[in-house]
Amino acid sequence: MDFKQQVIAALEPTVSEFLSKEALMNVIEVPKSSDLGDYAFPTFQLAKSLHKAPQQIALDLVAKIDQTAFEKVVATGPYVNFFLNKQTFSEETLKTILKADQNYGDQDLGHGGNVPIDMSSPNIAKPISMGHLRSTVIGNAIAKILTKTGYHPIKINHLGDWGTQFGKLIVAYKKWGSEAAVREDPITNLLNYYVRFHKEDVAHPELDDEARAWFKKLEDGDQEATDLWQWFRSESLKEFQKIYQMLGVEFDSFNGEAFYNDKMAEVIDLLKAKNLLHESQGAEIVDLEKYGLNPALIQKSDGATLYMTRDLAAAIYRKRTYHFVQSLYVVGNEQSEHFQQLKAVLKEMGYNWADQIVHIPFGLITENGKKLSTRQGRVILLEEVLNDAIRLAKAQIKEKNPDLPNQDKVAKEVGVGAVIFHDLKNDRMDNFDFNLEEVVRFEGETGPYVQYTNARAQSILRKSSLSYTLDDALALTDDAAWDILKLLADYPEVIQRALKLYEPSVIAKYSLRLAKQFNKYYAHTRILVDDPQLNARLSLVKSVTIVLENALSLLGVASPQEM
Ligand code: ARG
Repeated sequence: MDFKQQVIAALEPTVSEFLSKEALMNVIEVPKSSDLGDYAFPTFQLAKSLHKAPQQIALDLVAKIDQTAFEKVVATGPYVNFFLNKQTFSEETLKTILKADQNYGDQDLGHGGNVPIDMSSPNIAKPISMGHLRSTVIGNAIAKILTKTGYHPIKINHLGDWGTQFGKLIVAYKKWGSEAAVREDPITNLLNYYVRFHKEDVAHPELDDEARAWFKKLEDGDQEATDLWQWFRSESLKEFQKIYQMLGVEFDSFNGEAFYNDKMAEVIDLLKAKNLLHESQGAEIVDLEKYGLNPALIQKSDGATLYMTRDLAAAIYRKRTYHFVQSLYVVGNEQSEHFQQLKAVLKEMGYNWADQIVHIPFGLITENGKKLSTRQGRVILLEEVLNDAIRLAKAQIKEKNPDLPNQDKVAKEVGVGAVIFHDLKNDRMDNFDFNLEEVVRFEGETGPYVQYTNARAQSILRKSSLSYTLDDALALTDDAAWDILKLLADYPEVIQRALKLYEPSVIAKYSLRLAKQFNKYYAHTRILVDDPQLNARLSLVKSVTIVLENALSLLGVASPQEM
């Protein structure tokens, strides 16, 4: 059903001497306007090899190639334009989609290869930030895209559950905290202790020594320190789980930084054996000058290990445990240097699989163009954002469809879906502003708009007493349907592109285009009229719902059947 292949097959016999199949695959374009056909072949490259004018070559090709698969093939200046046979295209496209249903677009590119995805990874005793939200939803979508393309993703929440901050937290809790307060609202109170610590240690620097000592105790397995840490961790995790549940995201592993405590000695030994560790200003480092990078900090003078050491241990552990074909890290762009260092150190250690490590960075969510930060306590609480989104969605549903059953369920699917979609429709590296009212609107470039379009298509299917059949004619040749058909046929390639770029926005943008095109069709075409094309139109509507729902599902967004 790959129509581009038909174009290649038509050109190949005449041009194979100069252009390989691959090369053809790369040069064949989709013209901006459908007046110029469905595919275009630019002849410039060929013109160079043949020392002839591109215009002449285009004319020669049109005269030579077999045109039976096409409505027509014409030369337009230096281009050969191919117009697909609408009837065949329509029938084949609709049949393929209806038969495959939610498996439409599945492709086995990964052959089941394991791909760990380090995602979300918030820090214990601190709120999940908008940055962690981005990591969670981008990682989740990439995992779904990987599954769709035949890989086996492993979603790992590399919790920030270790580090010197736990020394500070223990000191602060012992001085100012209460058990009841932590039980009541763990994240808020633990954060308060931590903030207070940073205020007071300005005047009382001895607090820092105490904190260091407590972290050392923790690293040495002291009982009191370990119990407190364990408790902070499990209380925090309970809070995080609430949010993951709202987002519909599940993890395969919660092995956080602490999990690697007993795996660090080996890393240090390996580094020593390879003569890579050097002392510098009281710390052990790996010099990375030849990579143009700052040195990687491995161990402090008191023996305490660092974020980097734990990531080295984690990378090695993941290779040994999962035998990955690729290892992904969905982490904000501000940690780019960290991941470059990580790869460089692994390379220095002689691991050639270091190249399979891929950092997938993303930009910031801003408020009026400014970064949101935890340090000043300026943190937007994710749970509140999601609840507000649900409330806004509910208000709109009440207004548009007051008799809708299951309003709460649908409001949740729309509100949460809106927040996820808004995040994923932007190129991941772009910074973007977050304005909840915009995000939850039913019109414009929003998740609710795509969901609403799908629900509308579903209601057409419900209304028709006839259901479509695969045996009847499925040919639609009018222009409005044609634009939709071409988008539908594109879907497998769209998924491939999203995979190649690790860019869920490719799918989000596609779903917006398809929704828009369908609404245009719906506005101009009477669908439920009993004429010979009714079956074809219903099949088209059904196919649109299949693809919209599949695209939304790859983003981790639900598709309410009514809203
Ligand atoms: N906990 C870190 C943070 O919030 C993110 C961890 C990312 N994953 C990793 N393997 N380093 O900044």
